[in-house]
Amino acid sequence: MSLSREQILHEMGLGPIWRVREPLPVLATDVPSAPVIPSPPVEVRPATQQCQTLPSATVDGLNWPDLSQQVADCRACVLCQQRKQAVLGVGDRQADWLFVGEGPGAEEDVKGEPFVGQAGKLLDNMLAALDLGRDRKVYIANAVKCRPPGNRTPEAAEMTACRPYLERQIALIKPKIIVLLGKAAMYSVLHDDSTLASKRGQRLSYQGIPVVVTYHPSYLLRNLPDKAKAWEDLLLARRLWRESSKTAQT
Ligand code: URA
Ligand code: SF4
Repeated sequence: MSLSREQILHEMGLGPIWRVREPLPVLATDVPSAPVIPSPPVEVRPATQQCQTLPSATVDGLNWPDLSQQVADCRACVLCQQRKQAVLGVGDRQADWLFVGEGPGAEEDVKGEPFVGQAGKLLDNMLAALDLGRDRKVYIANAVKCRPPGNRTPEAAEMTACRPYLERQIALIKPKIIVLLGKAAMYSVLHDDSTLASKRGQRLSYQGIPVVVTYHPSYLLRNLPDKAKAWEDLLLARRLWRESSKTAQT
């Protein structure tokens, strides 16, 4: 089904408050409305088991095929035990935009691709509203590459174990803007365990690359009113992307 621009904003819960001035693309997917259920705050959980932290020397300098193989074979934390497969990421390996989520869920674990479930449909709509797509100027990765059992939040030690892979992905992609979706991504990339609310809406930075933190799409499906804030964050990200693209050209 194709959606008009008004419908996209409506689907995101943004209309009629937020308007983009530029023409928007037509979408092929739809997101069913989700029930509004109060959600508990997401905590970065302390480690309850020992993880073998990867020496970054084993990942630094890897090219995409070797990185991909190393992740597929990785047994550096307990998340390897119940995964069907590790999920490295998807999209343009020279993307301007890097989106980072939390970790694969059940559907992602089966398909080997991030954000293919309901949250992924919302993410696709958010991308489309910015004239982006998962294979158009965008790469999508996660803080941990293997599914946490029962879709629990990854533990701090698991994110630490997996971090070198994400850091290597960032080094290879060299994105012009990084959007961190939720607290786990914020912890993983920025090593920052403060609240998401205290960091969203700001220009942050990772190794000189502008970073914006916003709500995770799964949270947005349960908290529709916060979609308007997420849209503000995405517009901030777009401004920073434009600035960063101009700087790159000069
Ligand atoms: N949520 C995430 O954070 N990542 C996925 O890949 C899917 C759902
Ligand atoms: Fe390795 Fe990351 Fe999977 Fe843990 S989550 S086993 S560190 S790839």
